[in-house]
Amino acid sequence: MSVDMEELITNRRVIVCAGSGGVGKTTTATAIALAAARRGRKVLALTVDPSKRLAQTLGVDRNNDRPVPIPASHRADAGIEGDNLEAWMLDPSVVADQFVNRFADSPEEAQRLLNNRLYRQISRMVAGMQEYMAMEALYGFLREDRYDLVVLDTPPSRNALDFLYGPSRLSSFLDGRIFKLFLPEEEGRRSFLRRAASRLVNGVNAAVFGAEYYLELQEFFGSFSGIFRSMNKNAADGLSRLRDPENVAFLLVTSPASTSLTDAFFFRRKTVELELPFRGFVLNRSQAAAGDRVFPDASMFGGTPTAVQASALEKLVRLAKVEQAAMARDRQLLARLEEDAGGGLAVALPNIPSGADSMPALVHLGDVLMDA
Ligand SMILES: Nc1ncnc2c1ncn2[C@@H]1O[C@H](COP(=O)(O)OP(=O)(O)OP(=O)(O)O)[C@@H](O)[C@H]1O
Ligand SMILES: [Mg+2]
Repeated sequence: MSVDMEELITNRRVIVCAGSGGVGKTTTATAIALAAARRGRKVLALTVDPSKRLAQTLGVDRNNDRPVPIPASHRADAGIEGDNLEAWMLDPSVVADQFVNRFADSPEEAQRLLNNRLYRQISRMVAGMQEYMAMEALYGFLREDRYDLVVLDTPPSRNALDFLYGPSRLSSFLDGRIFKLFLPEEEGRRSFLRRAASRLVNGVNAAVFGAEYYLELQEFFGSFSGIFRSMNKNAADGLSRLRDPENVAFLLVTSPASTSLTDAFFFRRKTVELELPFRGFVLNRSQAAAGDRVFPDASMFGGTPTAVQASALEKLVRLAKVEQAAMARDRQLLARLEEDAGGGLAVALPNIPSGADSMPALVHLGDVLMDA
């Protein structure tokens, strides 16, 4: 198997950027989306919880409830000629509300839940909603054939694979015994003992939370149990659809830090286990691609250096040695990734000292990916 980015952005319909927290998933996904749009593909960048600056760079709002076109001026900055790039930056609060509207049995039930104080407090924290909505949205777009390519960023999580388990994490949250205690009672189906225990729990809960708040608690968990049931039906085939090697490519983003590399290798093994179409590693913020920089020496000063110059040179040499060591280390890492990729990509992206969320930086990173 020999893969390059040009081939992936041309022949795939979904590119997933996964990796552990903070390694550069959103940055890489955006750079790929820009590169594909610059080459004329109709692209959606589906990113999760991006930084404010990145949203500004693309000229889109983070609170949209659907994909929006990148404004013409921003497209021009990126060298994109047509109207062929849209972005949807999933915002956790918008996602949670959409989630409820999507799965509640009726608009009234949705409204009740949205107004519920407990929902308002915890909906933003419940893991899995973003993941689930991103997947849902993705399949909707693919069915509609609205885009040639969707670049899917994955949510911040400690484990690179958490997003795949999002829906089941959601339901395990609900199925937890603790939360069962809050569910409304199903009269007639309980033994005397259960009823007595339940009355006790209800009494304690009401005393602890206050009767009114406890009612809201019951309502919250009651509504959510129904929502989870219908959601799980749909979630079951989510993973299997991502297994399609014709249409889907997984890229794993990592930094040179050992923890994210460990995650990367772990993820690589998992993709084999889960039969996901892994297509390569992106070693972000690395020095591997630093090229052969000029090593500082006395010739820089055009003759014998003065004492001040000699002292400056000494410091420069020290610095250069540190950089060279980092470069050698990153090249080794890249070689290890290449080996582990088994014919997939292993691309190094440079660290951009001024930050990666400006348009020129993102376009540059896209170019580096394409040239690999
Ligand atoms: N190559 C790079 N050079 C310089 N800065 C970078 C580079 N890649 C990413 N960054 C910066 O690092 C920060 C984290 O990047 P990013 O948001 O892409 O990571 P992430 O993996 O999506 O994080 P999270 O897990 O929180 O979603 C951002 O501020 C981004 O601009
Ligand atoms: Mg991110």
